[in-house]
Amino acid sequence: MKFYPKALPRISKPDKRVVTLFLMIYLSLKYSLHFVMAFLLLSACSPSKNQSEIPIELVEAVRIQAGNPVEGKLVYQSCVVCHGENAEGIQALQAPALVNTDKLYLYRQLMNFRKGIRGYSEQDTLGKQMAIMAKALNDSLAVSNVVAYIKTLQEVSVAATLGGDIRKGERAYESICGSCHGPGAKGNALMNAPRLNGLNDWYLKRQIRHFKSSIRGAHPTDKFGAQMIPMANMLTDEQAIHDVLAYIQSTALPAAK
Ligand code: HEC
Ligand code: HEC
Repeated sequence: MKFYPKALPRISKPDKRVVTLFLMIYLSLKYSLHFVMAFLLLSACSPSKNQSEIPIELVEAVRIQAGNPVEGKLVYQSCVVCHGENAEGIQALQAPALVNTDKLYLYRQLMNFRKGIRGYSEQDTLGKQMAIMAKALNDSLAVSNVVAYIKTLQEVSVAATLGGDIRKGERAYESICGSCHGPGAKGNALMNAPRLNGLNDWYLKRQIRHFKSSIRGAHPTDKFGAQMIPMANMLTDEQAIHDVLAYIQSTALPAAK
Protein backbone atom coordinates (compact mmCIF):
# COMPACT_ATOMS: atom_id res chain seq x y z
CA MET A 1 0.00 0.00 0.00
CA LYS A 2 1.25 3.47 -0.79
CA PHE A 3 1.77 5.66 2.21
CA TYR A 4 2.46 9.34 1.92
CA PRO A 5 2.52 10.99 5.32
CA LYS A 6 1.59 14.66 5.36
CA ALA A 7 3.88 15.49 8.26
CA LEU A 8 6.43 13.95 10.54
CA PRO A 9 4.89 12.42 13.65
CA ARG A 10 4.87 14.94 16.44
CA ILE A 11 3.82 15.00 20.08
CA SER A 12 0.12 15.47 19.54
CA LYS A 13 -2.05 17.85 21.47
CA PRO A 14 -5.48 16.45 22.40
CA ASP A 15 -7.30 16.33 19.08
CA LYS A 16 -9.81 19.13 18.72
CA ARG A 17 -12.32 16.80 17.13
CA VAL A 18 -12.27 14.44 20.14
CA VAL A 19 -12.87 17.31 22.52
CA THR A 20 -15.72 18.52 20.30
CA LEU A 21 -17.28 15.06 20.27
CA PHE A 22 -17.28 14.76 24.07
CA LEU A 23 -18.72 18.24 24.40
CA MET A 24 -21.45 17.37 21.93
CA ILE A 25 -22.44 14.21 23.82
CA TYR A 26 -22.47 16.08 27.10
CA LEU A 27 -24.47 18.98 25.69
CA SER A 28 -26.99 16.79 23.91
CA LEU A 29 -27.69 15.06 27.21
CA LYS A 30 -28.03 18.31 29.12
CA TYR A 31 -29.69 20.67 26.63
CA SER A 32 -31.88 20.45 23.59
CA LEU A 33 -30.70 19.13 20.24
CA HIS A 34 -30.94 22.65 18.74
CA PHE A 35 -28.13 23.86 20.90
CA VAL A 36 -25.98 20.97 19.72
CA MET A 37 -26.73 21.77 16.08
CA ALA A 38 -25.70 25.40 16.59
CA PHE A 39 -22.52 24.25 18.29
CA LEU A 40 -21.76 21.85 15.43
CA LEU A 41 -22.23 24.65 12.91
CA LEU A 42 -19.93 26.95 14.83
CA SER A 43 -17.16 24.40 15.23
CA ALA A 44 -17.36 23.56 11.52
CA CYS A 45 -16.73 27.24 10.76
CA SER A 46 -13.73 27.55 13.07
CA PRO A 47 -10.31 26.66 11.64
CA SER A 48 -9.62 22.97 12.35
CA LYS A 49 -5.94 22.90 11.35
CA ASN A 50 -3.83 21.59 14.17
CA GLN A 51 -1.11 24.25 14.49
CA SER A 52 1.36 21.84 16.07
CA GLU A 53 1.54 19.91 12.78
CA ILE A 54 3.05 22.81 10.83
CA PRO A 55 6.83 22.44 10.80
CA ILE A 56 8.78 25.49 11.84
CA GLU A 57 10.50 25.68 8.45
CA LEU A 58 7.17 26.23 6.78
CA VAL A 59 6.27 28.94 9.25
CA GLU A 60 9.61 30.61 8.52
CA ALA A 61 9.05 30.17 4.82
CA VAL A 62 5.80 32.06 4.97
CA ARG A 63 7.75 34.97 6.38
CA ILE A 64 10.10 35.08 3.38
CA GLN A 65 9.59 38.40 1.70
CA ALA A 66 7.16 38.03 -1.17
CA GLY A 67 9.75 39.33 -3.61
CA ASN A 68 9.37 41.82 -6.41
CA PRO A 69 9.52 40.17 -9.85
CA VAL A 70 10.28 43.49 -11.61
CA GLU A 71 13.40 43.96 -9.50
CA GLY A 72 14.07 40.24 -9.81
CA LYS A 73 14.15 40.43 -13.60
CA LEU A 74 17.13 42.77 -13.37
CA VAL A 75 18.86 40.39 -10.96
CA TYR A 76 18.12 37.44 -13.22
CA GLN A 77 20.17 38.96 -16.04
CA SER A 78 23.28 37.63 -14.28
CA CYS A 79 21.82 34.10 -14.38
CA VAL A 80 20.78 34.01 -18.05
CA VAL A 81 24.18 33.00 -19.38
CA CYS A 82 24.01 29.63 -17.58
CA HIS A 83 20.34 28.94 -16.80
CA GLY A 84 18.90 30.38 -20.01
CA GLU A 85 16.60 33.28 -20.86
CA ASN A 86 13.52 31.42 -19.62
CA ALA A 87 15.25 29.57 -16.75
CA GLU A 88 14.91 26.44 -18.88
CA GLY A 89 18.44 25.23 -18.06
CA ILE A 90 21.46 24.71 -20.33
CA GLN A 91 22.86 21.20 -20.33
CA ALA A 92 26.14 22.18 -22.01
CA LEU A 93 26.88 24.27 -18.91
CA GLN A 94 25.35 21.72 -16.52
CA ALA A 95 23.02 24.41 -15.19
CA PRO A 96 19.56 22.94 -14.46
CA ALA A 97 16.10 24.27 -15.31
CA LEU A 98 14.89 26.43 -12.44
CA VAL A 99 11.47 27.39 -13.69
CA ASN A 100 9.67 24.17 -12.63
CA THR A 101 11.10 24.19 -9.11
CA ASP A 102 9.25 25.21 -5.93
CA LYS A 103 9.65 28.79 -4.80
CA LEU A 104 10.65 27.96 -1.22
CA TYR A 105 13.16 25.38 -2.32
CA LEU A 106 14.80 27.78 -4.80
CA TYR A 107 15.07 30.36 -2.04
CA ARG A 108 16.58 27.86 0.40
CA GLN A 109 19.15 26.61 -2.09
CA LEU A 110 20.26 30.13 -2.99
CA MET A 111 20.62 30.92 0.72
CA ASN A 112 22.52 27.64 1.23
CA PHE A 113 24.94 28.58 -1.54
CA ARG A 114 25.35 32.01 0.05
CA LYS A 115 26.03 30.55 3.50
CA GLY A 116 28.43 27.91 2.17
CA ILE A 117 26.12 25.07 3.22
CA ARG A 118 26.08 23.94 -0.40
CA GLY A 119 29.12 24.10 -2.69
CA TYR A 120 31.48 23.63 0.27
CA SER A 121 33.38 20.63 -1.07
CA GLU A 122 36.56 21.07 -3.12
CA GLN A 123 35.20 18.33 -5.39
CA ASP A 124 31.99 20.28 -6.05
CA THR A 125 33.27 22.45 -8.89
CA LEU A 126 29.81 23.22 -10.28
CA GLY A 127 28.37 23.93 -6.82
CA LYS A 128 31.28 26.28 -6.16
CA GLN A 129 30.61 28.08 -9.43
CA MET A 130 27.00 28.55 -8.39
CA ALA A 131 27.99 29.64 -4.88
CA ILE A 132 30.01 32.52 -6.34
CA MET A 133 26.93 33.67 -8.25
CA ALA A 134 24.65 33.40 -5.20
CA LYS A 135 27.12 35.29 -3.01
CA ALA A 136 27.22 38.10 -5.58
CA LEU A 137 23.55 38.87 -4.87
CA ASN A 138 23.18 41.90 -2.60
CA ASP A 139 21.05 40.44 0.19
CA SER A 140 18.17 38.08 0.96
CA LEU A 141 15.77 40.58 -0.61
CA ALA A 142 17.61 40.22 -3.94
CA VAL A 143 17.24 36.44 -3.52
CA SER A 144 13.48 36.77 -2.93
CA ASN A 145 13.20 39.08 -5.92
CA VAL A 146 15.01 36.79 -8.34
CA VAL A 147 12.96 33.79 -7.14
CA ALA A 148 9.75 35.82 -7.60
CA TYR A 149 10.82 36.62 -11.17
CA ILE A 150 11.69 32.99 -11.99
CA LYS A 151 8.23 31.96 -10.79
CA THR A 152 6.58 34.34 -13.28
CA LEU A 153 8.11 32.40 -16.19
CA GLN A 154 6.26 29.62 -17.96
CA GLU A 155 7.08 26.04 -17.01
CA VAL A 156 9.05 24.02 -19.54
CA SER A 157 9.16 20.30 -20.27
CA VAL A 158 12.53 18.63 -19.78
CA ALA A 159 13.68 15.76 -21.98
CA ALA A 160 14.71 12.37 -20.56
CA THR A 161 18.34 11.57 -21.34
CA LEU A 162 19.24 8.52 -19.23
CA GLY A 163 16.95 5.74 -20.47
CA GLY A 164 16.31 3.75 -17.28
CA ASP A 165 13.55 1.21 -16.61
CA ILE A 166 10.43 3.15 -15.60
CA ARG A 167 8.67 0.18 -13.93
CA LYS A 168 11.63 -0.77 -11.77
CA GLY A 169 12.14 2.90 -11.01
CA GLU A 170 8.54 3.28 -9.91
CA ARG A 171 8.91 0.46 -7.40
CA ALA A 172 12.09 2.00 -6.00
CA TYR A 173 10.51 5.45 -5.93
CA GLU A 174 7.48 4.25 -4.02
CA SER A 175 9.42 2.27 -1.49
CA ILE A 176 12.21 4.80 -0.87
CA CYS A 177 11.42 8.29 -2.10
CA GLY A 178 7.65 8.79 -2.20
CA SER A 179 7.16 9.20 1.53
CA CYS A 180 9.07 12.49 1.35
CA HIS A 181 8.91 13.70 -2.26
CA GLY A 182 5.21 12.85 -2.58
CA PRO A 183 3.22 10.95 -5.19
CA GLY A 184 4.43 11.60 -8.73
CA ALA A 185 7.55 13.38 -7.36
CA LYS A 186 5.50 16.56 -7.00
CA GLY A 187 7.28 17.51 -3.79
CA ASN A 188 5.95 17.85 -0.25
CA ALA A 189 6.51 21.15 1.51
CA LEU A 190 5.64 19.63 4.89
CA MET A 191 8.59 17.26 4.50
CA ASN A 192 10.78 20.03 3.04
CA ALA A 193 11.31 17.71 0.09
CA PRO A 194 11.30 19.50 -3.27
CA ARG A 195 9.45 18.68 -6.44
CA LEU A 196 11.72 16.56 -8.62
CA ASN A 197 9.60 15.95 -11.69
CA GLY A 198 10.48 19.14 -13.58
CA LEU A 199 14.23 18.87 -13.10
CA ASN A 200 16.72 17.60 -15.67
CA ASP A 201 17.67 13.94 -15.12
CA TRP A 202 21.38 14.67 -15.68
CA TYR A 203 21.24 17.26 -12.92
CA LEU A 204 19.35 14.96 -10.52
CA LYS A 205 21.84 12.18 -11.20
CA ARG A 206 24.73 14.42 -10.21
CA GLN A 207 22.94 15.44 -7.00
CA ILE A 208 22.32 11.80 -6.05
CA ARG A 209 25.98 10.99 -6.67
CA HIS A 210 27.02 14.02 -4.66
CA PHE A 211 24.80 13.01 -1.75
CA LYS A 212 26.27 9.50 -1.91
CA SER A 213 29.81 10.81 -1.66
CA SER A 214 28.97 13.57 0.87
CA ILE A 215 29.91 16.29 -1.61
CA ARG A 216 26.44 17.64 -0.83
CA GLY A 217 24.45 17.27 2.39
CA ALA A 218 27.35 16.73 4.78
CA HIS A 219 27.77 20.33 5.94
CA PRO A 220 27.14 20.35 9.72
CA THR A 221 24.19 22.75 9.42
CA ASP A 222 22.56 21.17 6.37
CA LYS A 223 19.74 19.37 8.14
CA PHE A 224 17.70 18.87 4.97
CA GLY A 225 20.56 17.73 2.76
CA ALA A 226 21.64 15.33 5.53
CA GLN A 227 18.34 13.46 5.17
CA MET A 228 19.17 12.70 1.55
CA ILE A 229 22.52 10.98 2.13
CA PRO A 230 21.13 7.67 3.48
CA MET A 231 18.36 7.78 0.86
CA ALA A 232 20.81 8.23 -2.03
CA ASN A 233 22.89 5.38 -0.60
CA MET A 234 19.91 3.07 -1.02
CA LEU A 235 20.32 3.41 -4.78
CA THR A 236 23.19 0.97 -4.91
CA ASP A 237 24.34 1.24 -8.51
CA GLU A 238 24.14 3.46 -11.57
CA GLN A 239 21.30 1.41 -13.06
CA ALA A 240 19.17 1.94 -9.93
CA ILE A 241 19.73 5.70 -10.25
CA HIS A 242 18.78 5.67 -13.93
CA ASP A 243 15.64 3.64 -13.21
CA VAL A 244 14.33 5.91 -10.47
CA LEU A 245 15.09 9.00 -12.56
CA ALA A 246 13.32 7.47 -15.59
CA TYR A 247 10.24 7.05 -13.41
CA ILE A 248 10.47 10.60 -12.01
CA GLN A 249 10.86 11.94 -15.54
CA SER A 250 7.81 9.94 -16.70
CA THR A 251 5.60 11.69 -14.13
CA ALA A 252 6.47 15.17 -15.42
CA LEU A 253 3.60 16.98 -17.05
CA PRO A 254 4.14 18.49 -20.49
CA ALA A 255 4.76 22.22 -20.26
CA ALA A 256 1.76 24.52 -20.58
CA LYS A 257 1.44 25.94 -24.07
C1 HEC B 1 28.35 30.24 -14.31
C2 HEC B 1 27.11 29.57 -14.52
C3 HEC B 1 25.96 29.90 -13.58
C4 HEC B 1 25.40 31.13 -13.32
C5 HEC B 1 25.80 32.48 -13.91
C6 HEC B 1 24.31 30.89 -12.40
N1 HEC B 1 24.21 29.55 -12.12
FE1 HEC B 1 22.85 28.65 -10.90
N2 HEC B 1 23.72 26.86 -11.19
C7 HEC B 1 24.78 26.63 -12.04
C8 HEC B 1 25.15 25.23 -11.99
C9 HEC B 1 26.24 24.56 -12.78
C10 HEC B 1 24.27 24.63 -11.06
C11 HEC B 1 24.26 23.16 -10.61
C12 HEC B 1 25.09 23.04 -9.36
C13 HEC B 1 25.19 21.62 -8.86
O1 HEC B 1 25.22 20.71 -9.67
O2 HEC B 1 25.18 21.44 -7.63
C14 HEC B 1 23.39 25.69 -10.58
C15 HEC B 1 22.38 25.49 -9.64
C16 HEC B 1 21.49 26.45 -9.26
C17 HEC B 1 20.42 26.26 -8.32
C18 HEC B 1 20.07 24.98 -7.57
C19 HEC B 1 18.91 24.28 -8.24
C20 HEC B 1 18.37 23.13 -7.45
O3 HEC B 1 17.44 22.47 -7.96
O4 HEC B 1 18.81 22.87 -6.34
C21 HEC B 1 19.77 27.46 -8.22
C22 HEC B 1 18.55 27.75 -7.36
C23 HEC B 1 20.42 28.39 -9.09
N3 HEC B 1 21.47 27.76 -9.72
C24 HEC B 1 20.01 29.71 -9.28
C25 HEC B 1 20.76 30.67 -9.97
C26 HEC B 1 20.44 32.08 -10.00
C27 HEC B 1 19.22 32.71 -9.38
C28 HEC B 1 21.44 32.69 -10.71
C29 HEC B 1 21.63 34.17 -10.97
C30 HEC B 1 21.70 34.99 -9.79
C31 HEC B 1 22.37 31.66 -11.14
N4 HEC B 1 21.92 30.44 -10.67
C32 HEC B 1 23.50 31.87 -11.89
C33 HEC B 1 25.43 27.55 -12.83
C34 HEC B 1 25.20 28.92 -12.82
C1 HEC C 1 13.47 11.48 4.47
C2 HEC C 1 12.89 12.24 3.38
C3 HEC C 1 13.44 11.99 1.99
C4 HEC C 1 13.47 10.81 1.28
C5 HEC C 1 12.92 9.46 1.69
C6 HEC C 1 14.07 11.16 -0.01
N1 HEC C 1 14.39 12.48 -0.05
FE1 HEC C 1 15.25 13.45 -1.60
N2 HEC C 1 15.29 15.19 -0.52
C7 HEC C 1 14.77 15.33 0.76
C8 HEC C 1 14.98 16.69 1.20
C9 HEC C 1 14.55 17.25 2.55
C10 HEC C 1 15.65 17.36 0.16
C11 HEC C 1 16.10 18.82 0.13
C12 HEC C 1 17.56 18.92 0.45
C13 HEC C 1 18.06 20.34 0.51
O1 HEC C 1 17.32 21.23 0.92
O2 HEC C 1 19.22 20.55 0.13
C14 HEC C 1 15.83 16.38 -0.91
C15 HEC C 1 16.47 16.67 -2.11
C16 HEC C 1 16.63 15.75 -3.14
C17 HEC C 1 17.31 16.02 -4.38
C18 HEC C 1 17.96 17.32 -4.79
C19 HEC C 1 17.03 18.11 -5.67
C20 HEC C 1 17.66 19.35 -6.26
O3 HEC C 1 16.91 20.12 -6.88
O4 HEC C 1 18.84 19.56 -6.14
C21 HEC C 1 17.22 14.88 -5.13
C22 HEC C 1 17.80 14.65 -6.51
C23 HEC C 1 16.47 13.91 -4.36
N3 HEC C 1 16.13 14.46 -3.15
C24 HEC C 1 16.15 12.63 -4.80
C25 HEC C 1 15.59 11.65 -4.02
C26 HEC C 1 15.38 10.28 -4.45
C27 HEC C 1 15.67 9.77 -5.86
C28 HEC C 1 14.89 9.60 -3.39
C29 HEC C 1 14.60 8.11 -3.29
C30 HEC C 1 15.72 7.25 -3.64
C31 HEC C 1 14.76 10.54 -2.28
N4 HEC C 1 15.18 11.78 -2.71
C32 HEC C 1 14.28 10.22 -1.02
C33 HEC C 1 14.15 14.36 1.51
C34 HEC C 1 14.02 13.03 1.16
